[in-house]
Amino acid sequence: MKDIIVMAIESSCDETSCSIIKNGTEIMSNIVASQIKSHKRFGGVVPEVAARHHVEAITYVIDQALNESELKLEDIDAFSATTGPGLVGSLLVGVNAAKTLSLTYNKPFISTHHIAGHIYANKFLTDFKFPLLTLVVSGGHTELVLMKDELNFEVIGETLDDAVGEAYDKVARVLDLPYPGGPHIDRLAKEGAPTYKLPTLMEDDTLNFSFSGIKSAVINLVHNETQRGNELRKADLACSFQEKAVELLIRKTKAAVEKYNISQVLVAGGVAANSRLRALITEELNTIEVVLPPLSLCTDNAAMIGACSYQQFISEDFSNMEERVRPSVDL
Ligand code: KG4
Ligand code: ZN
Repeated sequence: MKDIIVMAIESSCDETSCSIIKNGTEIMSNIVASQIKSHKRFGGVVPEVAARHHVEAITYVIDQALNESELKLEDIDAFSATTGPGLVGSLLVGVNAAKTLSLTYNKPFISTHHIAGHIYANKFLTDFKFPLLTLVVSGGHTELVLMKDELNFEVIGETLDDAVGEAYDKVARVLDLPYPGGPHIDRLAKEGAPTYKLPTLMEDDTLNFSFSGIKSAVINLVHNETQRGNELRKADLACSFQEKAVELLIRKTKAAVEKYNISQVLVAGGVAANSRLRALITEELNTIEVVLPPLSLCTDNAAMIGACSYQQFISEDFSNMEERVRPSVDL
């Protein structure tokens, strides 16, 4: 059978990325241009700044992806891009690039969902075994997604307020750590102990999450200690926060595994890079296969979009040039 080559573009937030994927599972190239440096001084992503950087970087990442894979645009069978969710100005850059290439080379255009991409990053590691459950943990999402078949997503639990990555980033900010804070909390927590008392989260029977309570608890604690002139044990606080956050993620994942008789658990999204989550989830769910993407495929990248769009290619899930960006589209 002829090889199927997909070029995928991801530009939903602060990484401009282009990847070329062969037959859905072989990464021929995966170029990621990060803008983190530019956003650091603002303590978060500034949408206008992000969109401008995407414009500057898009042709560079496409050229690099072609160079690395030693392919030409004529060799590509389909062009795909993340159409949502994400920042509208950022999404538009990647989507317009992919549409233009699709039109120029007369090949299909595929519209891919960012979270579906995070889930499909796991395809580089394993075949999917249904029914499967993905714990999606990113800067904008915290969800439990049930899949009974390819490209069939059912959200069975989600955060009622902040995403876990957002909570990490906000806690990092009150501890004066740089943006994005998740990796810094992860690193600092290893030097501390969970000696600060923080609330246990969402002790209910649902599969939902909530992180705004613990975020506020940490902010209040920092203010109170500062006002009293007490020295803040940052490593201990990072560790105390992380223990509670990870405990909730794992407790709800376990509950979903039991309820839906799951065959395989995947973890997806930027927070899947967290060392404590990675260690504890394999330890706690030891009777089931737990798949964790390598760190480079946890945070935003176009290879994951390519893995998902390959499946869409097989299912002939193509879009036309009318396809719009969808900043807050559901899975
Ligand atoms: O998936 P992602 O790259 O972008 C979104 O789609 O949101 O996730 C970014 C999030 C940020 O909140 C970042 O702080 C968090 O992932 N993150 C981590 C770690 N690495 C990245 N959080 C905790 N521990 C980490 N090691
Ligand atoms: Zn993401």
